[in-house]
Amino acid sequence: MEHLAQAAKLLAQAQRVVVFTGAGISAESGVPTFRDALTGLWERFDAQSLATPQAFQDDPDLVWGWYEWRRHRVTSVRPNPGHEAVAAVERHAPHTAVITQNVDDLHERAGSAQPVHLHGSLFAPRCSLCGFPAPLPASEGEPDDGRRLPPPACTRCSGPVRPGVVWFGEALPESALEDAVRAAAGCDVLLTVGTSGLVYPAAEIPRLAARSGAAVIQVNPQPTPLDPIARVNLHGAAATVLPAVVAAAWP
Ligand code: OAD
Repeated sequence: MEHLAQAAKLLAQAQRVVVFTGAGISAESGVPTFRDALTGLWERFDAQSLATPQAFQDDPDLVWGWYEWRRHRVTSVRPNPGHEAVAAVERHAPHTAVITQNVDDLHERAGSAQPVHLHGSLFAPRCSLCGFPAPLPASEGEPDDGRRLPPPACTRCSGPVRPGVVWFGEALPESALEDAVRAAAGCDVLLTVGTSGLVYPAAEIPRLAARSGAAVIQVNPQPTPLDPIARVNLHGAAATVLPAVVAAAWP
């Protein structure tokens, strides 16, 4: 309780807030995190080995099928009270930037104005050859687990369409990274929620904020490598802890 009150006070007094989120904030909506074992027919795959340019080159149908399965999964779930609390922080503290590593759209659907997507989006496919944006394939219900799907052809050059996400070994979208760096370097409080803090360069964002003098507040049920830089560690689930912090900050 003492930690919660301390976090609430820091937030209520902040002029500039950054909320930095990872897969953990969407876990309670039913979107598996990357460290969770995949279930069903996907359980024999490792999420990280499907998320590479090489995997798409070797087996485009497998990788496209996996991302289509994830997109349908995300479409069928709803934002949880954690996402809603983040949107509430934006309403109470007008200079708030939301920076997410998630490729889902649950922040937007909870009312966040313009979350910065450091790792792209499941909803912005593009040609893997010429980069031309591609329409989202028509929805035919949720594809079965483990189903391969051939990627659509680009309407401009006929190349295979790929998901609009950042894969391991690829650069982050330049403008998203610039926005994130600027916000982190200039904030007084950074609230990091549901991220393992293991994947760079995204994991540099809370560290940059701490080096620039911001108070870092962490929400995560597990210890992470960000524990030492956090001024306040709130060990718990985002959908429970975040609404409690917001209620205490702006009673
Ligand atoms: P991870 O899957 O690495 O970590 C999820 C974190 O959420 C863990 O620290 C969990 O303890 C925590 N967590 C689980 N349930 C939670 C809950 N209910 N409330 C709060 N926290 C909870 O996800 P990310 O850190 O987002 O990159 O992963 C970073 C990047 O690695 C991803 O964006 C993705 C991935 O591989 C790419 O695809 C490029």
